[in-house]
Amino acid sequence: MDYQTEFRRSIDQPEAFWRDKANAIDWIRPPEEIWKATDNGHGQWFPDGLINTCDVALDANIRAGRGDQTALIYDSPVTDTRQSYTYRELTDQVARFAGVLREQGVAPGDRVIIYMPMIPQAVFAMLACARLGAVHSVVFGGFAAHELAVRITDATPRVIVTASCGIEVSKVIPYKPLVDRAIEEAEHKPERCIVFQREEVTAELQPGRDLDWETQMASARAVDPVPVAATDPLYILYTSGTTGKPKGVVRDNGGHAVALRYSMELVYGARPGNVFWAASDVGWVVGHSYIVYGPLFMGCTTILYEGKPVKTPDAGAFWRVVQDHGVDYLFTAPTAFRAVRKEDPEADLLATYDVSSLKRLFLAGERLDPATYEWLREHTGLPVLDHWWQTETGWAICCNPVGIEEFPTKPGSATMPSPGFNVQVVDPQGQPMPAGMQGQVAVKLPLPPGCLTTVWGDDQRFRKTYLNPIPGFYSSGDGGFIDEDGYVFIMGRTDDVINVAGHRLSTGEMEEVVASHPAVAECCVVGANDELKGQIPVGLVLLKDGATIDPDELEEELIDMVREKIGAIACFRRAMVVERLPKTRSGKILRRVIRQIADGDEWAVPSTIDDPSILDEIQQRFHR
Ligand code: COA
Ligand code: AMP
Repeated sequence: MDYQTEFRRSIDQPEAFWRDKANAIDWIRPPEEIWKATDNGHGQWFPDGLINTCDVALDANIRAGRGDQTALIYDSPVTDTRQSYTYRELTDQVARFAGVLREQGVAPGDRVIIYMPMIPQAVFAMLACARLGAVHSVVFGGFAAHELAVRITDATPRVIVTASCGIEVSKVIPYKPLVDRAIEEAEHKPERCIVFQREEVTAELQPGRDLDWETQMASARAVDPVPVAATDPLYILYTSGTTGKPKGVVRDNGGHAVALRYSMELVYGARPGNVFWAASDVGWVVGHSYIVYGPLFMGCTTILYEGKPVKTPDAGAFWRVVQDHGVDYLFTAPTAFRAVRKEDPEADLLATYDVSSLKRLFLAGERLDPATYEWLREHTGLPVLDHWWQTETGWAICCNPVGIEEFPTKPGSATMPSPGFNVQVVDPQGQPMPAGMQGQVAVKLPLPPGCLTTVWGDDQRFRKTYLNPIPGFYSSGDGGFIDEDGYVFIMGRTDDVINVAGHRLSTGEMEEVVASHPAVAECCVVGANDELKGQIPVGLVLLKDGATIDPDELEEELIDMVREKIGAIACFRRAMVVERLPKTRSGKILRRVIRQIADGDEWAVPSTIDDPSILDEIQQRFHR
């Protein structure tokens, strides 16, 4: 089948289309009904189906004869460890950890927060929740205690699963003190905290609340997959929005399994037995979809890499992993290859490894800049495929659909809408823009399976953020255009979300932290272009009358505060004191022009500004 036929069928006959795709997975009770509209303006996929996501990921592979195939390879240059688990071994670990959770009272629908580094136990814990019908919420290990506390308060977990430490290159980061502080700060108190002790650090356990992973596993009884409704939540994954409070994106079980299984073929061209490596972190959506669930749904071998693209030990790290494990498909964020290119511009290290197993390179998470695209093309000779998606969608909204038809790539474009996503570029009233003209990138409802079903505990926020801005559409928050050949180009966020080294962060949240400093009257944080990380946050700060603090001292304090409240990954390293902030006459800060000035782009004085002379001061501060 060609792409156009497949795409048209997905839009014109979505129920028939997704009924076919649903046949590719093992259901406990296959759905009769495919789509049911709900009164929140959205709807449910496969509402009467019964499924268990862990069964689809693991047991179904054993039933299909893949029990002895490697399911998971753990490669950790930071601890000099390699381990691999067959589908049978992985199922055993997961079923027993599900027994541990059940022993602690975790029942279907209960939430479990997983705050773990990139170790196999993180994957066991996620799949164990799925096996029980419990809802996991993985929190990226780079987030500070406060961020974890916010998520504990919102998700109200019965149990937290953590490890004694994470390892960042050679720096050991104890996790348990962060978890203890987060529980102290959170309004909700989990009943149990299960801790995996790593050799590098031993965490102190609080009697009555904390349990040791290994001790519990030693006496655990394996449990079988628990049937759940296709529409029951599988996980909550928090992502940054425009306000300080992160949004808990909720993903269901049935739609997720069907969509991810389909995406493995469509987007990546993967087959059972292939080795699939998403070089990301289980704390991000890429890790959920393509380290854990997607490759296992497809019967692939997946790689869990506890390392960096550079420094563990050098810029040849990715090529070494490809060689050692015979990786077929590598997926990462452009920033990772920018880091490699910076340290090894001529790709000399690439030449020292045998990477002939690699079929394609996939990039997503931020804009793929043409320089990185060209560098990869030139030095690897491989197809370099950009694809665009979000935490909210869980799989690619636009891709080069290699599983059905491979299109010539155009640098800067994520190629075509994936079947199921009726992507349109519209003006704020929802009217289509002509080809080549920039507007808001939106998806005509309904969204295909696998996308968010609501915001955890706040359906109103779901409607307000995604459905209400452009009636009849899902509003992506990204701007872009579609060219005359139908290629989609994503140009960047139209809101206050920024992308730092492929990590999605909210400038609004940073502003809340900066504004809480006693000397700060008002502030504004914008994302400025950065050669390595894509964007980095920069703060402009207005002091309170009478505040006498030295600007350098203030900058240091603000940097520490953002690190402490949000985490080191925010990369907040610059805060400048200014005399005034540029505002409209009605008092709104003109962030767009500040961003343009920070980036050294051309800028025009906005007609709404109250005092244009402020812009010259800001120009000088940024570029002196
Ligand atoms: N736990 C604790 N701290 C973490 C962390 C984690 N899981 N991940 C990052 N950090 C910390 C780092 O130690 C660093 O702290 P420092 O300021 O004390 O040095 C800070 O957060 C920034 O880290 P990072 O973004 O990794 O910057 P870097 O300059 O060390 O490395 C890159 C640059 C490009 C190599 C790195 O950002 C990278 O690997 N990027 C790819 C990320 C990715 O895959 N994103 C896509 C998700 S799809
Ligand atoms: P996240 O939810 O963390 O995956 O971040 C999603 C955001 O990253 C999107 O809204 C885009 O702004 C950006 N993004 C992801 N993939 C791409 C891509 N291929 N091209 C351009 N921007 C991208």
